[in-house]
Amino acid sequence: MPAPAKLSFASDILPMFTGMDVAHMIKSMDLGDRDSVFQHADAIYKSVVSGHMPPASCGEPRWTEDMCAKFKQWQEQGGEP
Ligand code: HEM
Repeated sequence: MPAPAKLSFASDILPMFTGMDVAHMIKSMDLGDRDSVFQHADAIYKSVVSGHMPPASCGEPRWTEDMCAKFKQWQEQGGEP
């Protein structure tokens, strides 16, 4: 099996966060910044995979399984910028 292609923050992860996500979470972390997201990756993953974030009340759809898996893979690959 070939190793899976390396995902990058800029092209694979950042586009999954909306402007609303970044704006609402900025007091606790910067979802627009690779280092901040990598540092909080476990908590972010838990929040999206459980459907707690983004909150249903804000009107955004919950992350699909593919989005969650992509995020996890990026983290496990070391968080390429
Ligand atoms: C460490 C993980 C996270 C924690 C502890 C967290 C916590 C919170 C809290 C306490 C609020 C305000 C109360 C609420 O509306 O429930 C909030 C709001 C919000 N969060 Fe998060 N959050 C996390 C990750 C995320 C992620 C990864 C996203 C996007 C993918 C996100 C998107 C939002 C949005 C859009 C709101 C605003 C909801 C509104 O005002 O309608 N959050 N978050």
